[in-house]
Amino acid sequence: MKKILFVCLGNICRSPAADGIFAGMIESKGFSDKLACDSCGTGDWHIGDLPDPRMRAAGQRRGYRFTHRARQLCRADYENFDLIIAMDAQNRSDILARAPEGFDAARVKLFTEFCSGKFASLGGVPDPYWSGDDGFDQVLDILENGCANLFSAQTE
Ligand code: 4NP
Repeated sequence: MKKILFVCLGNICRSPAADGIFAGMIESKGFSDKLACDSCGTGDWHIGDLPDPRMRAAGQRRGYRFTHRARQLCRADYENFDLIIAMDAQNRSDILARAPEGFDAARVKLFTEFCSGKFASLGGVPDPYWSGDDGFDQVLDILENGCANLFSAQTE
């Protein structure tokens, strides 16, 4: 079983959406015995919260139901997950700064490393929290693209 953890700042916008999209791919393509995913945040402000209502609404328009409850990145995550995928460069540096001694930094990737086409040049998934509603749709476009490529890379 390969386990993948998506990490953003608040765990209410980007990473729970990536988690929901990727979990849907695992389920619909029949890989539940080989792949699993989860998400968390580097911050603690939203622990226990559902995803932001704007992200849930944007997801619902595409047929997703994002029901994750926010949690904060913890020590066990570094052991429990094979791959830790940061939404942006700040998330990645926070993840690495908190890593236990001897942790292999190569297990942390930037989400946009998996993006292709017009998204390939992005240096991270933009934080939609302070943006308008269209920011959430743009984030979903990026997440669908990267998740599809990540899924292919894990299953080929
Ligand atoms: P996320 O977005 O990291 O994609 O979940 C954010 C959510 C909340 C905050 C920042 C970013 N916040 O400052 O509360």
